[in-house]
Amino acid sequence: MSSTVVTGIAELITCDGSTPDGLGIVADAAVVIEDGHVAWLGPASDAPMADHQVDVGGRAVLPGFVDSHSHLVFAGDRGDEFAARMAGTPYDGGGIGVSVDATRTATDDELRSLVAARVAEMRAQGTTTVEIKSGYGLTVEDEARALVIAGEFTSETTFLGAHVVPREYAGDRAAYLELVTGPMLAAAAPHSRWIDVFCEPYSTHAFTEHEARTVLLAGREAGLELRVHGNQLGHGPGVQLAVELEAASVDHCTYLSDADVDALAGAADTTVATLLPGVEFSTRSPYPDAAALLRAGVSIALATDCNPGTCYSSSMPFVIALAVREMGLTPAEAVLAATVGSAKSLRRSDIGRLVLGARADLTVLDAPSHVHLSYRAGVPIARALDLPVDEV
Ligand code: NIG
Ligand code: FE
Repeated sequence: MSSTVVTGIAELITCDGSTPDGLGIVADAAVVIEDGHVAWLGPASDAPMADHQVDVGGRAVLPGFVDSHSHLVFAGDRGDEFAARMAGTPYDGGGIGVSVDATRTATDDELRSLVAARVAEMRAQGTTTVEIKSGYGLTVEDEARALVIAGEFTSETTFLGAHVVPREYAGDRAAYLELVTGPMLAAAAPHSRWIDVFCEPYSTHAFTEHEARTVLLAGREAGLELRVHGNQLGHGPGVQLAVELEAASVDHCTYLSDADVDALAGAADTTVATLLPGVEFSTRSPYPDAAALLRAGVSIALATDCNPGTCYSSSMPFVIALAVREMGLTPAEAVLAATVGSAKSLRRSDIGRLVLGARADLTVLDAPSHVHLSYRAGVPIARALDLPVDEV
């Protein structure tokens, strides 16, 4: 096993919470990596010798972004739906059926290469961990194959059979619920870590509080951990349900009442509010006040929600820039939410921070400081660092 020392780091953003802004910045730093993990970090002048050296040339380095919410397994295109929305047509989840049709007819290899391209796009923008949901198959076979393909790219796989009620079950929601919580869950569970549900009374396509609770409890019974799509289209029950069931994350949180904020603050150790500002951008929805959530004591995360309907962007830097510009976060708070915050939403402590023993997922910024992620919005300054690989 060989070691690598990364040098030339003008600003090492550890996200270890050791400084008042939480970023734990070490100036003029080095990191030593062994077996894919951080074996040493500190001032470059103290760095030990290693077998390989990678010099990042005076750039900033931070933990790779953790994109804790994505729907990468889909085929087809909904650019027309986006254009119509920009002209005033509201989003109601109905377009999901278009992606379901295209995904069902795609071959395994087509889906696999679409996911590979999207994961590569993410890595090229600094993301080193991605959660991937199913939800565009909505048959037993199509959901299982989506999760098998997702599992080729990440261990953070999420069964989202309860994305919408598919067209063929529109007249019999109860029968679809039985399918999702029965044979579909049985086929999906071996390939999933998580279960998720689109809990949204403002869309006839999505699931009511009662239906969502049934889905989540069945998932838990099958050994899966819980996540929820909640409060996206209006003041729905998703947040309260997620807190009640101790879900790891409730995602969107676009419309929050004071009671929702109180519930999230009381559950800050258990349930993270994952904010998806790319969705507000792409659906012309109001941005939630992330700064107010932090002041209230809520644990927050940032993710892309990369999907063909509400946000076809794979860019965590774009999300960070939106969170700073539109949701009131400081550049430091946004970076923390996109790294250690989203790691917490996946109940992971080995990613999202650069500390001894953590996974050596390093992202390099073509910039001297993390502020540039939002200051230079739209400029491709972030990339995951490729490290030398041992010959075998
Ligand atoms: O997270 N809201 C539910 N699911 C996705 C959108 C899916 C789609 O429109 O294709 C979301 O926004
Ligand atoms: Fe989503």
